Amino acid sequence: MCGITGIVGKHRDDIGRVLIECSSKLAYRGYDSVGLAAVRNGKVELRKEVGTIEEVNRLLRLSEMKGDRGISQLRWATYGAPTRVNAQPHFGCEEVLYGAHNGNIHNYVEYRQELVDTGHVVRSENDGELCVHAVDKYFEQTGDMFQAVQLSTKDLQGAYAYAVGRADTREVYAVKMGSSLVAGVGNSDTIVSSDLPSILPLTNRVLYIQEGEMLRLTPDSVDVFRIEDGKKLERNLEISTVDPHAAERGGYPHFMLKEINEQPKVVKDVVGSLQGSETSRWLEMIEDASTLYLVACGTSYHAGIVGTYYFNRYAGIPLTPSIGGQFIPMYGNTLSQDSLCILVSQSGETKDILNVLKHTESTKHGKSLGILNVIGSTLMFNADAYIPMVCGYEVSVPATKTYYSQSVIFAYLAVMLGERNGTLDSSEAKRLVNLLANDLPRLTQDTIDRTGIQAKRLARTLDDVKDLYCLGYGFTDGVAREGALKIKEIVYNHCEGLYSSEFKHGPLSIVTDGYPVIFVTTTEDSWMVINHLSEVRVRGGRTIIVGEYEDKLRSYVDSKGDYLMVPESDLFLNPILDVIPLQLLSYFMSIDRGINPDLPRNLSKTLTVD
Ligand code: G6P
Repeated sequence: MCGITGIVGKHRDDIGRVLIECSSKLAYRGYDSVGLAAVRNGKVELRKEVGTIEEVNRLLRLSEMKGDRGISQLRWATYGAPTRVNAQPHFGCEEVLYGAHNGNIHNYVEYRQELVDTGHVVRSENDGELCVHAVDKYFEQTGDMFQAVQLSTKDLQGAYAYAVGRADTREVYAVKMGSSLVAGVGNSDTIVSSDLPSILPLTNRVLYIQEGEMLRLTPDSVDVFRIEDGKKLERNLEISTVDPHAAERGGYPHFMLKEINEQPKVVKDVVGSLQGSETSRWLEMIEDASTLYLVACGTSYHAGIVGTYYFNRYAGIPLTPSIGGQFIPMYGNTLSQDSLCILVSQSGETKDILNVLKHTESTKHGKSLGILNVIGSTLMFNADAYIPMVCGYEVSVPATKTYYSQSVIFAYLAVMLGERNGTLDSSEAKRLVNLLANDLPRLTQDTIDRTGIQAKRLARTLDDVKDLYCLGYGFTDGVAREGALKIKEIVYNHCEGLYSSEFKHGPLSIVTDGYPVIFVTTTEDSWMVINHLSEVRVRGGRTIIVGEYEDKLRSYVDSKGDYLMVPESDLFLNPILDVIPLQLLSYFMSIDRGINPDLPRNLSKTLTVD
């Protein structure tokens, strides 16, 4: 949530253009409002407004703003409604100090009052403004920006990162206190940002910033300091190998469609990476755990549910899935030293997940194994070990290819563990790994090709629908929940994902003539799903099936168009492939309603707040 970018240029006067170019790569982090502060000849000009970066840029011509340094921010609103005054960056008491934040200031109410009581001119209801005033307060006392920034962190409680600058110095400062921060050094600029994609248009020479560190950007250098004692830290620049064009649509109308279409490659890459990795450390961590939890949020949680079924079936290992925010109140007190939390997070920055990580660190109860996509994320640096998803950038807010990679990782780990503990004999383990490595990329492509047109047609027949269910059974439990989440996220329909045997215990009462219920099935479970299909059909409901074609299921749909058929495959691959038609269906439903699926309203790709 929220994306900040700060740039200090050596010779440039086109800071607006370059800040817009860089921060547009963070569009997935927030699109409630956008602002840009540009400094030229010792004066700060600030423009901001409600809307996406394209809209605000069109309206306020941000990219024409002149200067050699500045800060921009894309906001996902928490404290303070999405209005112009709450948009960031903010000024301090005078129009000299400017800055913006990402994250949450937890002592917002008390601290705002304290600042107002001591004469600060606080203009908004946004907690980011307090970061700027905290620096202002200490600058008044010390006359020194370094100290002011350092001291501000004592006042500000919460999880955040911010960037600030002054009209009269050619420096920008930034701190990392719980939210992500990356810096870069280009030939003629230095840059700090919430995430790597906005650095890459300027440079591939990057610095990953750790918790509790602060930065000073000058036109030539980025210096890193420990906030606690102000000690300067030696950090080498790393050369990022991430393709700077990865965050471009590459001819697709939306990132979501591009990312769905990247899934065949994702399979090859992630299986290749797993086969080339020293997996024994991860496997031993899992084997040595007395209790094993799977903790994740949103889409990652659904992949974790798929993983739970894989672990049970192929490795005979119980995995307890938990939603990130629920984990500490539900299991926090029962962890032992030998517990293991598998923390699954695309971004590696989701606050609910980092809370669990902190809990294991502070109680010294429980180890952590991250499964993450963003290299350089807080989860990557702080988990005891991590498995990379190797998906490249996922830009679209609704996650697709990272879910796919997560499912493959769980399938692979289950087979490895099953072989080691004797649940699977080695020839069966080899066969299953072969399926992942050699068959799945082709079948993934085949599923996209086959179900794309079907999903597009089906979406049109659902134009008037406002409310539906998506049910799974056994292996397709997590898949159905994920399909429902996608429809909620980008179609703005109520769609509940549920275990299909549970539907009769209450929700069935919602079914009247034509009420749509999607069933996701594998060939193994279809004998059971037929019962659940019948229960809906005899009450007039419209049943839609996702799965392999089976003669016995044909009579449970009104028309062929209500059957999204994935290609034939081994049961082992069914739960992975079944998600594709649901991704595509939600995508086309979204398009049909005139929604931009990449930037669904009210959401953000990375939620660094509680
Ligand atoms: C947000 C995003 C979801 C995502 C969830 C977990 O809610 O909008 O798409 O699934 O966070 O994200 P993570 O980065 O932890 O996987």
